[in-house]
Amino acid sequence: MADQVTVFAPASMGNVAVGYDVLGGAIDGLGDRVTVRRLDTPTVRVGSITGRAPDLPTTPADNTASVALRSLRDAVGLDGGFEVSIEKGIPLGSGLGGSAASAVGAVVAGAALLPTSWSPADLLPHALAGEAVASGDLHPDNVAPCLFGGLVLTREMTPPDVVPIPVPSDVRCVLVRPNRVLHTRDARACLPDTVPLSKSVRQTAHLGAFVAGCYRDDLALIGRALRDLIVEPHRAALIPGFADVQDAALSHDALGCSLSGAGPTLFAWCTGPDHAERVRDAMIGAFTQHDVSAEAWISPIPSEGARITNLPPSDSQSP
Ligand code: HSE
Repeated sequence: MADQVTVFAPASMGNVAVGYDVLGGAIDGLGDRVTVRRLDTPTVRVGSITGRAPDLPTTPADNTASVALRSLRDAVGLDGGFEVSIEKGIPLGSGLGGSAASAVGAVVAGAALLPTSWSPADLLPHALAGEAVASGDLHPDNVAPCLFGGLVLTREMTPPDVVPIPVPSDVRCVLVRPNRVLHTRDARACLPDTVPLSKSVRQTAHLGAFVAGCYRDDLALIGRALRDLIVEPHRAALIPGFADVQDAALSHDALGCSLSGAGPTLFAWCTGPDHAERVRDAMIGAFTQHDVSAEAWISPIPSEGARITNLPPSDSQSP
């Protein structure tokens, strides 16, 4: 059995506008590379952290990856321990599921060093425990797509009931990240504790219609449904130029445009690569009008989640 395993864990967009905290999709070509090494000593420690967020905590109790590994180690009753090293490809505080990716990468790599086999559902609680350190809450909408791949709805965390949702093959997701950091913990703190029943009813209709549109390959229905009536209004003010960037995407016929996870990245669903490029350029242009620089990615919703690469850490951001 190997002494060390490296895993590529993809970025993800949480919420996907319609499903706050329950729906999320994996992203292609962007992610963290997490290497776990077996230790003979009964400890979990953090080795190196490199890449786009080198200042992440290295204290084992504060790092999402080591907390996730501790949870796994305790569940197994392991005599030995683990050392985890992370090459961050996902920018910190971007709304692209960075803390989830490190936690998922750690447990997928750690599990590969154990004698028994582990399914993604087995690993979900441990990855969630890790991510909770960063966001202050248990929410599966980044961890689940990172582990399982694709677009997934988590009906229940305990026991895990993660439902894959098919995505029409034409769909491309544009992600535009303004050069700002927004911590999930802060973006959650600005949300109200309660939601008016009438709003909840309307959002439920949008979520149901969105899922039906995905199953029916009905892009027009997806376009009518891809709206966030509950969370986005409270967070929009945290992102400079939000309304104009969203308008730019929608006026270029994006199916929908909202925050990726807690933001500040915005996502827009588009129909095909050419359309996605036009929408991306319009969104970046709108940020520029607000003197905000931005970087962007265009991605399908990849069916694959975190996977073992066994390559040593390198400068590359994709497998
Ligand atoms: N569902 C979470 C939130 C995602 O919106 O706070 C965090 O990336």
